[in-house]
Amino acid sequence: MQSLQEQIKAHEQDINSFTPADAKELEEYRIKYLGTKGIVKQIFGEMKNVPVEQKKEAGQVLNAFKQLAEGKYEEFKHLQDGASQKGPAIDITMPGTELPLGTRHPLRMVENQIVSIFEKIGFSVATGPEIEDDWHNFTSLNMPEHHPARDMQDTFYVSQNPDWVLRTHTSSVQARIMEQGKLPVRVLCPGRVYRNETISARAHCFFHQCEGLYIDKGVSFADLKQALYYFVTEMFGPDTKVRFRPSYFPFTEPSAEMDISCTVCGGSGCNLCKHTGWVEILGCGMVHPNMLRNFGIDPEVYTGYAFGMGIERITQIKYQVNDLRLYSQNDVRFLKQFQSQ
Ligand code: PHE
Repeated sequence: MQSLQEQIKAHEQDINSFTPADAKELEEYRIKYLGTKGIVKQIFGEMKNVPVEQKKEAGQVLNAFKQLAEGKYEEFKHLQDGASQKGPAIDITMPGTELPLGTRHPLRMVENQIVSIFEKIGFSVATGPEIEDDWHNFTSLNMPEHHPARDMQDTFYVSQNPDWVLRTHTSSVQARIMEQGKLPVRVLCPGRVYRNETISARAHCFFHQCEGLYIDKGVSFADLKQALYYFVTEMFGPDTKVRFRPSYFPFTEPSAEMDISCTVCGGSGCNLCKHTGWVEILGCGMVHPNMLRNFGIDPEVYTGYAFGMGIERITQIKYQVNDLRLYSQNDVRFLKQFQSQ
């Protein structure tokens, strides 16, 4: 009896000092004291060893102990109620379920790179509509109706209105910028363009371009070359070489296409450069005086340069993507490769 009372005292102390922090601790307490194999049951089991004449007294002590143990449980039962009201108890120390994080599209990443390179030399960004009228996409760019250069780009016309087209190039944004008449102007115009092409690894009915336009007094072809050379070394590394080939665009005079030394083989010849050592990356030139005049800009006072590059092309060269269709198939196995770039 003596030892039973001592045991009870020790447990009473434990119970009195016990303050559960949450439903989990309360449940542990319940199992320890009040469960089927708990201490209260166990101690009641000791009754059979108590001599008959002490049973009454022992019974009172044990009952008091039981009440104490149960009272404590009742006192904190609200913890459990709270937990069940707020849904199942959560173990916040458990590792969470990992949610896959999306990535930027490679074309958008490259567009952002192009923009940030040109921003460093004073270009700002401008955008324009993807459904364009004939004037901004063709006529004002020195391509009047029936001009053969219109055939250079297979055009999607909007059936309700033959004056509307899906813009075939971002040069239409050039036109809109000049129209605003604020000079000098130094803008970069990235965006989506459309051409009526059969979809294949090398052609698509929509793709992306980035146009550049700089008009001021005294802008020369040397400025154009310098800006593009700076761009190429920032984009492809300081050892990249450039070359300009004479070309034709109705809205620039003179016009050129720019090649860079092949970034894959360094010039010795590979598939990307078709064993020439050079890859074409953009078209450019000095803004045609006719185009300036179309927007009331005096070509005797102002000159300007323009360039336009394909963002898919730059991405293809930078990351050796060999099929244009990959960009619009939304295959995450392709897209997530660009995660850390
Ligand atoms: N608009 C031309 C194209 O789509 C590219 C270009 C832009 C060329 C600006 C010269 C100047 O091919």
